[in-house]
Amino acid sequence: MDQPVAVVTGANRGLGLEICRQLKAAGIDVILTARDAAKGQAAADALGVRFHVLDVTSQISVDALALWLALEVGHLDILVNNAGIMPDGGLMLRRMKMAMINEVLATNATAPIRVTQTLMPLLLKSRQPRVVNISSALGQMASMGAGTPAYRISKAALNAATAVFAAEMAGTAVKINACNPGWVATDMGGDDAPRSKQEGADTAVWLATLPADGPSGGFFQDRKRIDW
Ligand SMILES: NC(=O)c1ccc[n+]([C@@H]2O[C@H](COP(=O)([O-])OP(=O)(O)OC[C@H]3O[C@@H](n4cnc5c(N)ncnc54)[C@H](OP(=O)(O)O)[C@@H]3O)[C@@H](O)[C@H]2O)c1
Repeated sequence: MDQPVAVVTGANRGLGLEICRQLKAAGIDVILTARDAAKGQAAADALGVRFHVLDVTSQISVDALALWLALEVGHLDILVNNAGIMPDGGLMLRRMKMAMINEVLATNATAPIRVTQTLMPLLLKSRQPRVVNISSALGQMASMGAGTPAYRISKAALNAATAVFAAEMAGTAVKINACNPGWVATDMGGDDAPRSKQEGADTAVWLATLPADGPSGGFFQDRKRIDW
């Protein structure tokens, strides 16, 4: 009855799937979500967790998840905003098509805001609500540079949204933090990445299960605070 319930976005593969695996191992009731129903259901079945379809860029899809959660569970304890895209490797901002910039911002920055906003009433029914935004060192203002430009801007915006949400929710039980998983061997990270998915997921799971005296409104890597 007191088993915490978690939603993870973009979890049919990569870091999202590993975060689901680690949350389940921590005794959490995981709802694995994915935009592709067949891939998501297969991943959830293999892991032994529940599945719900979710395209984070669609308000209709997010509303449908919120309604299902309200009816099935009645609240939400943990939200991990993990879904992301990086189609702009090797591109330069001064030449990028606006359509690609908009797509990256919609998926990596606007969507986590949308999902957090829509699920906030359910999170506020939890005793220990936790939101984790999977960001990136490429979004760090302290080391901002060229390369994957829309991706960098989207993750910087996600970091800003994390800080804004945390400030708005100060005084409530909600804790919302961002993390950099490091360079991880996934479809996005590629085979040369030095980190395993297990290592990459660790800080996200730690933030998802923070105790009541844990931090909020921070950016973390390897369980330590880093510069925005
Ligand atoms: N790998 C790294 O080195 C690294 C480093 C820093 C940060 N990150 C961040 O970590 C997160 C996970 O990345 P990853 O490495 O696991 O990448 P990945 O293997 O490419 O997985 C990305 C996931 O996001 C999903 N997704 C994309 N758009 C979606 C949408 N509109 N709705 C729902 N799901 C959507 C994908 O679903 P489909 O299968 O349907 O495409 C896939 O499940 C991302 O936010 C990424 O920016 C990764």
